This record gives sequence, C-alpha cells and structure tokens, in this order.
Amino acid sequence: ARQAQSKVRMSGKRAEGLIELAPSSRRYPTFRFEQVRDSGRDVLKIQGVKKAFGDNHVLHGVDLLVQRGERVAIMGPNGIGKSTLLKIVMGELDADEGESEWGYEAHPAYFAQDHREEFDPPHNTAEGWVWDSCPDRDIGYVRARMAQMLFSGDDSKKRLSALSGGEAARLVFTRLAIARPNVLVLDEPTNHLDLESIEALVEGLKAFPGTLILVSHDRWFVSGLATRIIEIKPEEVRDYHGTYEEYVHFCGDDHLDADRVILKAKTEKRKKTEGRKKTEGQGKTKERGKTEERKKTESRKKKAKGTKQVLEHQEALAASIEQAEARVAEIDEVFCEPAYFERTSPDEVKILEAERTSLQREVAKLTSEWESAEEEIG
Ligand SMILES: Nc1ncnc2c1ncn2[C@@H]1O[C@H](COP(=O)(O)OP(=O)(O)OP(=O)(O)O)[C@@H](O)[C@H]1O
Ligand SMILES: [Mg+2]
Repeated sequence: ARQAQSKVRMSGKRAEGLIELAPSSRRYPTFRFEQVRDSGRDVLKIQGVKKAFGDNHVLHGVDLLVQRGERVAIMGPNGIGKSTLLKIVMGELDADEGESEWGYEAHPAYFAQDHREEFDPPHNTAEGWVWDSCPDRDIGYVRARMAQMLFSGDDSKKRLSALSGGEAARLVFTRLAIARPNVLVLDEPTNHLDLESIEALVEGLKAFPGTLILVSHDRWFVSGLATRIIEIKPEEVRDYHGTYEEYVHFCGDDHLDADRVILKAKTEKRKKTEGRKKTEGQGKTKERGKTEERKKTESRKKKAKGTKQVLEHQEALAASIEQAEARVAEIDEVFCEPAYFERTSPDEVKILEAERTSLQREVAKLTSEWESAEEEIG
C-alpha cells in the first residue's frame, strides 16, 4: 500500500511539473503521441472494398496498401464515403465485398467524426471517462495528461454531455495519446478545434513516429502533414505519393490555370472586338479627303485580308496549345497512378518532369503569341 501511495505522490509531482512547464502557453495544448512499439512494414491492406447503403453505392472497390510511417490524407467531397471507409477499416462497419486487414503488430486508435457517440455514459465525468480507458493508471497520471490538453481541475469534473465541441475533441485525443497506438486513424480531427489546438496537433502528429491515416477538409492541416494523398472521386480513387502541394500541382490547379488562360484570352478578344468598333468610328472623322464609301470598302478589304491570316495563325496556335496541354494532362495521369513514385526510378520520373516543365513553358509562349495575334486583329 505504501508503494502505491508513493506512486500516487510521484505522479502527482510529475503532474505538477508538467503544468508548470507551460504557464506562458496556456492556450496551446500539448499533443504527445508515443507508441509502445513499431508496427510491421505493411500497416493496412484494403482490397476491393465495396459498400452500399440500399441504393446508395458509396464505395466501388477501394484498394489501398498503407506502409509504416506514411502520413496518408484521404480527401474528397462530402458524402463520398470517407468516413464509411474508415469505419470499415476500424471494424465498425462490414464491407459488402472485399477485405480490410491490419498488418502485423499494427495497433490503431481511432478519432471518429461522430466521436461523441463514444461518450458513455453521458453523465460520466471527463476524467472518469479517460480513467476508464486506463484503470491500472492512477488518477494523477490521468490528470497530468488532461492538463496537457488544457483541462483544468474544474474542467476535468465536467459531465461528458456538458463538454463543448473543442473540449470533447481534446478529451478524445487524451484517450488516444494514453493508448500509445502505432497507427492513428483520424476522421476530421480539426473540425471542432481552435487554431492554437490545430497548430499543436500538427506538431504532435509530426513528431509521432507511427503511421497516420486521416480524413480532413482542412487544406492547411493536410498540407503540413500528409506525405500521401488519396482522393476519392465518384468513379475513381486517386493515390498520390507526395505532399498536398505537389498533388495540387500535378492533378488540379494546373489544368485550371490553363483553362483560365484560355478563358482570359477569350474574354480579352471579346473586349477588343468591342474596342475596335469604337476605333473605326473615330477613324471616320479623321480621314475626310476620300469619299466615305471608297475608304470604308478599302479598309474593310485590307482588314479582312490581314485578319484572315492572323485568325489562321491563331487557330494553329490554339491547336498547338491544346496538344501540349493534352500531353501535360497525360503526364499528370501517369503521376497520379497508384504507387507510381514507388515503382518508378527517380531518373524516369525526372525525364517526365522535365518534359512537363518544357511543355508548360511552350504553352506559356504559345499563349502569349496568341495574345499578340489578338492585338494585331484589334
Ligand atoms: N449508416 C448509414 N446508413 C445509410 N446511409 C449512410 C450511413 N452512413 C453513411 N451513409 C451514406 O453514405 C454516404 C457516405 O457517407 P460518409 O459519411 O462516409 O461520407 P463522408 O465522405 O465521410 O462525408 P463528410 O465529408 O460529410 O464527412 C452518404 O451519402 C451517407 O448519407
Ligand atoms: Mg465523414
């Protein structure tokens, strides 16, 4: 009994120490995720997973192999099936077809999007709920971990049902950290957190040596963390090994940029056509010597001839731009193929990247030529 008492006192002291450490940064919680031990190399294997709710076909055959140390972000629009996939992975839902299997020594902990459902019973206190998950620890330990997550003594005594969104999320994270898993499965973890907590969570997750599988709409959060992006789309799943910025660069924004350039060019064309009509009107008053009729016909002929050539030139330019962009899109498709960067040699990747860069330069050059042609017509 004496031993137990001294243990309590010890951890009480340690708890005080922890609180004292961070008096100036009170609003920043400390997320500290440690794992008991490494998992095996293959952490999660999903094969051909399909799921429908009645007529609502949500997952159409998902394949995924997650390896130790990866930080995978699963992205996609609302209702596409991200949470459903995680629930299947966590064994909370059964797939209609296919399999999801944890690898050797993988110990996952799960932050559910609807995590409040785990607050059971709702009249339990916050610290009571955390302690339930680690009954062999003493309360000093529980309180110290809660203090790190900014639960004051009074907050710890709050009923689960009375917790705010942010408190609830931090409490679930307290439990997760105590479990010392080697895989964190997080579904929209930042939804209820304030900025300080999100920043602290990013730091904590970066320092986590295990594997991270997360679903998030928060681009800032994802871009600070992810080393691999899985994008679930209505008819396909894109698997990209790289950061969020790289993913956007290869698969998204560049297409948009190209489209925007064309759109801008078209808009300018329309503007100039209108401007030209005005200039013609001004020209009339300047040249008074020739008869109106003759001047008009001449200039119209001249313009028509020049315009026709320029238009043909523009058409050719547009075709080249289209061709170059199609090739860029093709390269992007290759980059976005499952595990492309894993199974391709760096040299090969470099060659394609170089081609892509030079194509983009070409597109820029052709576009500016197209625009000069436009000036000419004007
Ligand atoms: N238990 C259920 N019963 C019936 N339909 C469900 C059930 N769970 C999810 N769905 C439906 O399956 C689809 C996918 O839901 P899911 O929660 O997986 O989407 P999500 O990608 O996580 O969306 P969000 O970004 O909004 O969290 C939705 O149309 C949803 O209404
Ligand atoms: Mg969801």
